[in-house]
Order: sequence, then C-alpha cells, then structure tokens
Amino acid sequence: MTLHRTRQLLLTATLALMTSTAAQAQATSSVVPLPNDALFQQFGGRAGLSKLMDDFVERLVVDPRTERFFKNANKPHLKAQLTDQLCEVSGGPCKLKGPAMADVHANMAIQKGDFNALVEVLQQAMNAQGIPFGAQNRMLAQLAPMHRDIITAD
Ligand code: HEM
Repeated sequence: MTLHRTRQLLLTATLALMTSTAAQAQATSSVVPLPNDALFQQFGGRAGLSKLMDDFVERLVVDPRTERFFKNANKPHLKAQLTDQLCEVSGGPCKLKGPAMADVHANMAIQKGDFNALVEVLQQAMNAQGIPFGAQNRMLAQLAPMHRDIITAD
C-alpha cells in the first residue's frame, strides 16, 4: 500500500467517524426537550392555569378558613399574579413580577393552619379541573417551600 493510499484511507475513516459522531449528537439533541414545561402542559398551559386561578381565588373568598384574608383582595390582580407564578414554577414561559413573597405576606399573621387551608382549597380547585394527581403533587412541591416566607405567626 502506498503512503498516499494509506493517508486517503485514514482520511476517509476520520471523516466517517466525525460524521457519525455528528449524527449521533444530532439524534441525541433531538430527543432532549429544551425547556422542561411538562408540568405547565399538564395544567393546560396558561389558559388552563388562568381558569384554575379564577376558581381558586373564588373559593378562597368564600371558604370560612380563608375568607377573612381574601374578602378585600384585589381579585383580578391576585388571579393574574398567581397565574404568572404557577406558570413560572411549572416551567412555562412566564415570570412573576412583583414584590417578594415575604413582603407580600408580611403583617398578615398567617399561621401554619391558614397555609394548610389554602393548600386544601387549591387541591379542591385542581380536583374540580381534573388535574392528574401526580401533576397536583408536583405543583404543590414547587409551592410548599414558600411557607418559610409566608407563615409569620405561631
Ligand atoms: C404557597 C402559598 C402561597 C402563594 C404561592 C401565594 C402567592 C401570592 C401572590 C402571587 C400574591 C400576589 C402578590 C402581588 O400583589 O403581586 C399573593 C397575595 C396575597 N396572599 Fe398569598 N400566597 C400563598 C399563601 C397565602 C396564604 C396562606 C394566605 C393567607 C391565608 C395568603 C394571603 C394573601 C393575601 C391576602 C394577598 C393579597 C391579595 C390582594 O389584596 O391583592 N397567601 N399571594
């Protein structure tokens, strides 16, 4: 085999390797979802979340456990802010703009029982909307750590 022929074979082999590596990389990247918005989709996207937050806030206003906190709330504003927040934490294309959770809830003297009541009302609203149980739990897992900023009273 001549030196020229050896070089040519090496070149062909290298090119084949590069091409297959590129093809593999392409195949791999095509199955990796870019933004992970699976939870957002399970909630029906922004429209689904907006409907859910409408119902949730209406329930908060009438539930005897939460009514005193929410009866004077600016409902359209609260619904819109909650929709953005749940959209954001579920991986959707939103960003909650507004004061920090700790500042919003300061001076409300919210206790653990009040927080749990709100979570139960949210579960009622999610059940009414037919959100799958696993998706409900994943959403609650996103919200639960916020208790540190929200519960300010014993
Ligand atoms: C994980 C639990 C909670 C989340 C994610 C949450 C989220 C929010 C958000 C996004 C706002 C709107 C803030 C703004 O004006 O930009 C808000 C306001 C408010 N939250 Fe919460 N909150 C939670 C728990 C609670 C609890 C347990 C209570 C009381 C029982 C409560 C009472 C209120 C009230 C009274 C407002 C003001 C409504 C108004 O006048 O507009 N929140 N909350």
